[in-house]
Amino acid sequence: EHLVIAVDGPSGSGKSSVSRAAAHALGVGYLDTGAMYRAVTWWCLEEGVDLEDRDAVAQAARDIPLEMGTDPSTPSVRVSGREIEEDIRTTRVSEVVSKVATNTSVRPVLQQLQRDLIAEIAGRTGGVVAEGRDITTVVAPDADVRVLLTASVEARLRRRSKELHGADHDDAVEATRDQIVRRDADDSTVSEFTEAAEGVTLVDTSDLDFEQSVQALLDVVRR
Ligand code: CDP
Repeated sequence: EHLVIAVDGPSGSGKSSVSRAAAHALGVGYLDTGAMYRAVTWWCLEEGVDLEDRDAVAQAARDIPLEMGTDPSTPSVRVSGREIEEDIRTTRVSEVVSKVATNTSVRPVLQQLQRDLIAEIAGRTGGVVAEGRDITTVVAPDADVRVLLTASVEARLRRRSKELHGADHDDAVEATRDQIVRRDADDSTVSEFTEAAEGVTLVDTSDLDFEQSVQALLDVVRR
């Protein structure tokens, strides 16, 4: 019991939706750590904190009155009681979130907060699925289950463009390509995902649909 499941992967690997569905199926809580980097980014834009000012951004990460929702069926991120789940997914935030995520003064602040949240959620709900980029390696290397969800660039593009444009026609795919490839490059100091770290199970979802991906994750948890 108190099962801690760590899931990492790049954008468009299906990591968020698959992790949420797995948490729901297992009846445990869920933590989206990317949403925390997004929330700090949103808060800095809101408060007029210069994203180039590394120390000021780290201070914002310490000060942010952040409440992460942990129910996998109702994603919620609140700052000072205001629901910002939608605001943090806008291009305004997506375009600059890598600046915050690659700030080495910010990362330890959020990583410690994530460790505390993982322990708190697991204690309260009997377990947790925590997903991000460095959960299997840095935040929770001692997790009971560690999975790296990957997918080919083409599969990730198709999914992300569907998410953003509600379609996977060629124009939408091309419009998304720039974004996804650029953010992979921007994030490359944080995570490469060319291979799974030792003890981490690789699950390639390129040829799996959503349900099959959830099943594949649950299979790793149950074995
Ligand atoms: O949209 P996407 O799935 O790529 O992003 P996300 O999971 O919402 O994460 C937002 C940003 O935070 C990305 O630039 C990630 O690289 C970064 N991140 C991170 O550095 N460490 C984590 N544990 C989670 C996300």
